[in-house]
Amino acid sequence: MSEDIYREIILDHYRNPRNKGSLPNADISIHDSNPLCGDEIDIHLKVEEDTIKDIKFEGRGCAISQASASMLTEQVINKPLNTIKDIAKEDILENIGLMNLGPARIKCALLSLKVLKLGMVKYYADRDPGSAKKIQDESKLY
Ligand code: FES
Repeated sequence: MSEDIYREIILDHYRNPRNKGSLPNADISIHDSNPLCGDEIDIHLKVEEDTIKDIKFEGRGCAISQASASMLTEQVINKPLNTIKDIAKEDILENIGLMNLGPARIKCALLSLKVLKLGMVKYYADRDPGSAKKIQDESKLY
């Protein structure tokens, strides 16, 4: 696909975000921001039998950070929670489809994945503190 098509996909997700909103009774709610620009993402997850039954995000910021969050929610809904640890930075950059992103823009694209991984680690750590270190090591983003 050409970069123009990817740009259209990003703008579509930015203007019509999927799975945006709050999630009452979420099992996981986690927040982070990009300190350089102030963009923010909150992710809420409902987990049943280790499967992501519902996911919502809230946030504000640039088109790449918000579109990336929207795409990520579509990617993980109805998947096992622990598949989050296998999502690599390269997978997100492939979704975004823009080559030659500078380091600041790469942080925009990865903000939601960082939040999602933090949430997953917290979920397992709350239930089984002994497993937290292992999951955290396996979930490294960089
Ligand atoms: Fe802040 Fe993109 S400019 S995350």
